[in-house]
Amino acid sequence: MKFFIDTADVNEIREATALGLIDGVTTNPSLVAKTGRKYLDVVREICELVDGPISAEVLATDYDGMLREALAWHEVHANVVVKLPLTLDGLKVTRQCANKGIATNVTLCFSANQALLAAKAGATYISPFVGRLDDVSEEGMDLIAKIVAVYRNYDFDTQVLVASVRHPVHVLQSALLGADVCTIPFKVIEQLVKHPLTDAGLAKFVEDSKKIPR
Ligand code: G3P
Repeated sequence: MKFFIDTADVNEIREATALGLIDGVTTNPSLVAKTGRKYLDVVREICELVDGPISAEVLATDYDGMLREALAWHEVHANVVVKLPLTLDGLKVTRQCANKGIATNVTLCFSANQALLAAKAGATYISPFVGRLDDVSEEGMDLIAKIVAVYRNYDFDTQVLVASVRHPVHVLQSALLGADVCTIPFKVIEQLVKHPLTDAGLAKFVEDSKKIPR
C-alpha cells in the first residue's frame, strides 16, 4: 500500500520524507488555506520535496472553470495530479482529463456508486472520505470494502486512495482491505510508530545494558 501524506505543510512533508515512508502528497483548499500561502507556491515547493504524485485541487466548481484549472495544474509539474470534486461537472472534467492523459484524483467520495462513476470517467484515483463518514455514525471502512470489491469485479484501473484518515486503525484496515493508497495526516504517521510495549522494552534494554561490563 502506498503512503501519501495529507498536508500542505512543507515542514511536515520534510519530516515525513526523512522517514522514507512517503510515496506522494495530497492537498485540498482547506489544508492550503491553513498555510497562508498561495496554492501555486505551495504545490511547486511540494513537487521539489517529494518525487511522487502531488494532488492539487481545482477551486472552481463549474465545468469550464475546473477544466481551465485542470489544464493549468497539468502544466505546473509532471507529478501534479488534478483533484476534482465528485459532481457531474467534476466527472465530465475527469473524462476530459483522462482523454488528454492528465492524472486525476476524484475527491469527496461518500458512496460506492459515486466511486463507480469516477472509475467509469477514467479517474486515476478515487478519494473516499472515511473519517467524515465515521463522524456521522456510518462505517467509513465499509465503503472502502465495497469500492475495492466493485473495482475488482470490473478490473478498473482507478486506484482506491483512502482519505479523511483519523487514526492508525484506518491505516491498518485500509491495508487489510487492499486499498492502493492511504493518505495520512502527519500526526497519524507519528502514531503509527508508537507502541507502549516498544517504549517499555527499549527502556528495559537501556537499563540492563548499564549492567554489561565495559
Ligand atoms: O484528503 C482529504 C482529507 O484532507 C480530508 O480530511 O479530516 O478534513 O475529513 P478531513
